Amino acid sequence: MQKTLIIYESKYGTTEKIAKYLSLVLGPAKYCKTTEFNGEYKDFNLIILGSPIYTGKIVPKISDFIEKNIDWLKTKKIALFCTCISSKDGDENLIKLEKTLRNVLTKKALGGILELNKLNEADSLALKEFSKIIGFNFDDIDNFNLEEVINYALEIKSLKDDLNPLMPYLQLKNAIEEFLNSHNTCTLSTSYKERVRSTPIEYTYNNGFIYLISEGGEKFANLLLNNKVSMAVYEDYSGMNNLAGMQITGIASIIEKNKEEYKDIIIMKGLNLNFINNMAVNMNIIKIKILKIEFLYSKFKKLGYEPKQIFIYD
Ligand SMILES: Cc1cc2nc3c(=O)[nH]c(=O)nc-3n(C[C@H](O)[C@H](O)[C@H](O)COP(=O)(O)O)c2cc1C
Repeated sequence: MQKTLIIYESKYGTTEKIAKYLSLVLGPAKYCKTTEFNGEYKDFNLIILGSPIYTGKIVPKISDFIEKNIDWLKTKKIALFCTCISSKDGDENLIKLEKTLRNVLTKKALGGILELNKLNEADSLALKEFSKIIGFNFDDIDNFNLEEVINYALEIKSLKDDLNPLMPYLQLKNAIEEFLNSHNTCTLSTSYKERVRSTPIEYTYNNGFIYLISEGGEKFANLLLNNKVSMAVYEDYSGMNNLAGMQITGIASIIEKNKEEYKDIIIMKGLNLNFINNMAVNMNIIKIKILKIEFLYSKFKKLGYEPKQIFIYD
């Protein structure tokens, strides 16, 4: 599993809050300040460095840390962020850091927070002077944007997933199909705005598609308004060395009763078409085109591969 280490500094808590949020989305992860850094953390796969901007610069503890640790940092994949009031200041600092570190996958200046009544005397004075020079109002500013932070976390996660050494394509495809064909029940998650719903439901897998039959229900209220779905197929937990579960991302469509495809699916599922047609109520078919499968399977480790593999369907 690709582990993420977030090394940050923070004076009034904004950068720390972001470091903690990033670690939640990017887990397995750890966050620490430069003083808490321990040589054992050098085995993390992805390193994120985060600093606030004070009077135009990243904080000295972060620049000193980079200087002292540059040799091993250069061997790692890196993501950078800073918190600031002026994104121009943030961008300029990040560009400089990127040049020093070279192997930066992505970087972002994130909105910071300035609460004047929380500043110590020295910062309050420094800021007053600075605001005169720069010409901005000496007021509270809140540019923190949680959605921006989460989007950045997801962008880093996708880059991190690409670092995962993949199994050979056919071997992974066969393992996925074997797992899907040897199970028959999934949890289907649908959503629309504030409404989310998870439904345990029997499925059939066939050639990149999942087929579900349902009498109806609240999942359709979501599906009719949002065809993006997520599904989970998994085995009961029996220990950390025995994990087996997949998260499927897909697009759902509802197959109407009068379509030729409806009949084909009923037959493919081994059901009797006459029986289905003569039932007192309608049986509805949901067809899910699989886009992506994230498969966590401890057996892969025994075969010498990463236990988490990602398969993208064409
Ligand atoms: C004394 C002082 C100087 C600052 N200088 C800058 C600056 O030059 N550019 C900028 O974009 N933000 C500046 N800021 C805003 C901080 O970057 C912002 O408050 C950030 O969220 C602080 O992060 P922290 O809470 O993690 O310490 C300054 C804030 C203070 C208090």
